[in-house]
Amino acid sequence: MTALLLYCRPGFEKECLAEITYMAGEKGYFGWSNLLINSGFVIFETENAAEVYPLWQKSVFCREAWPIHHRLEDLDPSDRLGPIQQAVTSLVSETGVRLFGNVSCEYAEGDDFHSTSRFAGKFVHPVRQALRNQGLLSKKEDPSLPTLRLFFKDSAQVLVGLDEPRLRAPWPMGIARLRFPSAAPSRSTLKLEEAFAAFLGPEWRALLADCRTGVDLGAAPGGWTWQLVKQELYVYAVDNGSMDKTLMASGLVEHVLADGFTWKPFKMVDWLVCDMVEKPARVARLMYDWLDGRHAKYAIFNLKLPMKKRFHEWQEIKAQLDSLIAENHPKAVFKARQLYHDREEITVMLDLRNQNG
Ligand SMILES: C[S@@+](CC[C@H](N)C(=O)[O-])C[C@H]1O[C@@H](n2cnc3c(N)ncnc32)[C@H](O)[C@@H]1O
Repeated sequence: MTALLLYCRPGFEKECLAEITYMAGEKGYFGWSNLLINSGFVIFETENAAEVYPLWQKSVFCREAWPIHHRLEDLDPSDRLGPIQQAVTSLVSETGVRLFGNVSCEYAEGDDFHSTSRFAGKFVHPVRQALRNQGLLSKKEDPSLPTLRLFFKDSAQVLVGLDEPRLRAPWPMGIARLRFPSAAPSRSTLKLEEAFAAFLGPEWRALLADCRTGVDLGAAPGGWTWQLVKQELYVYAVDNGSMDKTLMASGLVEHVLADGFTWKPFKMVDWLVCDMVEKPARVARLMYDWLDGRHAKYAIFNLKLPMKKRFHEWQEIKAQLDSLIAENHPKAVFKARQLYHDREEITVMLDLRNQNG
């Protein structure tokens, strides 16, 4: 194992590499990559792939990662399966893994790789059959076992590896394919739905069941507010823009025509969400101040990153929040991720755990 495959949003390969290099460096590990810009993946060459692998879970720009065991090139179109089976046989003897719970044929998300996605989608069937014949695949899909991962750069080049169940992303290749709810006022609604699932886990709806109130800063036309209303929260929607009429008719929304940087609620609310298109450092500080001032218990907010120095900008914001948290709220929960539904932006969750004084 001398490399890790990391998936990221196409166009964010530099940020993904900068971040994993930084995180690995903090632990004393090093690596490098020849980037394919706009591909949606990074191959991080490192002698410490096993040690670096778990780090992706705390990264912002990486959607998922797994260690590469074998790299096959120039596959013969008349027998692609043979060399892959050989690689799997040596993978099994190297790792001692006797049974896979699933097999996944993967591809890059970048525009240049769309034809490979069709190929990979079909090729999984013969691979699955071959593994079954060898007794290497569980009868039913079993997420508690390692998954055999095959990444097709194209139909002639494949990377072979296996994952650890505890390090697997909750969605295949870290891509949350959520259905757009037709009643929602904007597609942005999917960002907040994905954020809740990513930060709170699959039981997020049950966790929100105890919550009563929310504030949405930069709410118009109401995609994020709609998610909160769907969980039966009463929402103060702060924006000078117009809100969706059907959403307003729910009776669970008060439209506040005000500046999100100055308005505050009378009483502490459960959730603060914010999607204002504003300077990210300013938004991050506002969110911290709301929670520190006990105007809200928990916050999820979006940070629009600048075109250049996106990783650097995030590092500065993170350093500022980290130092405020270390000084004042050492038990705080602070998570960030570039979600599948995020574009030139990332999403952050903050819980200072200071609701009880
Ligand atoms: C990306 S849109 C929000 C979309 C919304 N989350 C949704 O799901 O429909 C950004 C909104 O932020 C609002 N905004 C920007 N600066 C603001 C401020 N200082 N105070 C209040 N709203 C602001 C804009 O009017 C705009 O409606």
